[in-house]
Amino acid sequence: MAIIGGGPAGLLLSQLLHLSGVDNIILERRSRAHVEGRIRAGVLESRTAELLNRARAGARMQRDALLHDGFNLCFGHDCLRVDVKALAGTPLVVYGQTEITRDLYDLRLGEGAQIVFEAEDVELHGITCKPRVTYRHDGEPREIACDFVAGCDGFHGISRASIPATALRLYERSLPFGWLGVLSETPPVDDELIYSRSARGFALCSMRSRSLSRYYVQCPLSDDIDGWSDARFWDELRQRLPESAAARLITGPSLEKSIAPLRSIVCEPMRFGRLFLAGDAAHIVPPTGAKGLNLAAADAGELADALVLHYRGHDDSGLDNYSARSLRGAWAAVRFSWWMTMLTHPMGDEFSDQLQRVEFDMLRHSHAAAELLARNYCGMGLNAKV
Ligand code: PHB
Repeated sequence: MAIIGGGPAGLLLSQLLHLSGVDNIILERRSRAHVEGRIRAGVLESRTAELLNRARAGARMQRDALLHDGFNLCFGHDCLRVDVKALAGTPLVVYGQTEITRDLYDLRLGEGAQIVFEAEDVELHGITCKPRVTYRHDGEPREIACDFVAGCDGFHGISRASIPATALRLYERSLPFGWLGVLSETPPVDDELIYSRSARGFALCSMRSRSLSRYYVQCPLSDDIDGWSDARFWDELRQRLPESAAARLITGPSLEKSIAPLRSIVCEPMRFGRLFLAGDAAHIVPPTGAKGLNLAAADAGELADALVLHYRGHDDSGLDNYSARSLRGAWAAVRFSWWMTMLTHPMGDEFSDQLQRVEFDMLRHSHAAAELLARNYCGMGLNAKV
């Protein structure tokens, strides 16, 4: 098995296959330090945490993760606590993607995994019959002959680009704004996450630990990161939070600052011949629903099960169903992330403002509406295999 991309999807797939005795090699374009330095998601559905445990990669997560029973959703100064544990029966696991990546690298490399960092000029050949992957490493040309290729190399990776455009359908919806994110070594403003819809724009208070905060503010996509000094960021964030939270906000120097676009993209199908796409290589969701990493992990779990069935049970039904199953999950996550985005981001017109207000009131007054939100947020929604 050749796995293209050493992010969480590729690493988790590699580990699950390894535990079932399926030989695999990972090719990663960047260095380990670069992959581990990327600041990404931080909220895990409990089924993602269970999958990491199944992969025997959960030890540090079990020790260090924060368990949240719910989160806060604010409309101006009016706040609603969504009690996810009570409404959907499971808590949320707050543990950074960076930490998961580090845990998986430690585990895989400790077990002698084949991981090629800084693999250059990766190309896929013969993916409809006899796959081969060629690349350069330390200036030397190399080649891998394999049964299957897993494309876990993100949206701009070579895997999806190797599929003929006529065999793919891309669905896309982008918004004209993004999220400016800041990581800072300061205590989080609250014990739980705060999603805040303010007239000045959306803001999110998240965290990585009790001493490391992750904050976001909605900004125009055209904004330049250099125009956002730390002082301007903190000032804007404070103005977008409900009073009680604003009064508690502790600021500090930013450790990382970046702007991420808000867009939904789905690529169908997720299989071409012997190439299977997983994670961001096949779908992107806006971060509002905290679904990207969870979807990538779910793909890795599905693909690992399908491959093991192929090798152990001589049964290809898992591989044949992989694309359709994963796409159902991806579309459910796209819908939920789009809905959360539409609920919490001012769209610049009064009609949308009114609809957001009604939707917020419905969540407050309808148990069914709040339950649906909670179930989707923690992955126990329509598409959960429970
Ligand atoms: C994060 O902690 O980075 C985070 C949390 C919740 C989201 C998005 C990002 O919806």
